[in-house]
Amino acid sequence: MKKLVIANMKMNLLLSEIQEYVSKIKHENNVIICPTSIYIPYFSSFNVGIQNVFYENNGSYTGEISPKQAKSLGVNYAIIGHSERRRLFEETNQIINKKIKKALENDLKVILCIGEQEGQNLIETLNTQLEECLKELESVTKIIVAYEPVWAIGTQKTPTMEQISKTIQYIKDYIYGKYETSILVLYGGSVSKDNIEELNKIENVDGFLVGTAAKSINELNKIIEVTNR
Ligand code: PGA
Repeated sequence: MKKLVIANMKMNLLLSEIQEYVSKIKHENNVIICPTSIYIPYFSSFNVGIQNVFYENNGSYTGEISPKQAKSLGVNYAIIGHSERRRLFEETNQIINKKIKKALENDLKVILCIGEQEGQNLIETLNTQLEECLKELESVTKIIVAYEPVWAIGTQKTPTMEQISKTIQYIKDYIYGKYETSILVLYGGSVSKDNIEELNKIENVDGFLVGTAAKSINELNKIIEVTNR
């Protein structure tokens, strides 16, 4: 199976830049674009994901977007628990767990982001995040985990290839041990045109969550091209 390339556009791009972006980014089945929510309708020619959802379907929650609303726009994926949401918007594993449940109820595939901060114990952090974020889920077949070390996001630093491979395997084994299900596990954190050749060689990585590099049409296309070789 081809590795996934998921572009997390974060709060980037202006309306005036979207037409060029949509027309020039390679349309491949394994590419999922997660634009800023207000732009989602412009990306209907792609597989589309949303960067965050709320944990209710409708109601008085000013400024929030529900999984049900996202689904009604043709969105099939939701990034949940990104470290920027955890850090800047104080999202806890408990909130993330509620969001995951609501997203799954609405038939969205969930891209759950986990990863350690600098100085944190890796395995302890992963165990806590996986346990608490996936609490009371009957099935994890629609969960994709993105392992994103917080210290590697937007910093041009990455773990070594061996470290990435080992951590990805740890997450896969954890999920298999608990749910007897194999899930996709991605790597994210400073994936770029310069390191994608090397990262793509890691056999057990099922794809990449790309932030900063996805802002550049040429850079994202290069990542897509290498991943599809
Ligand atoms: P980065 O971001 O590629 O800029 O490190 C990744 C992410 O935040 O998902």
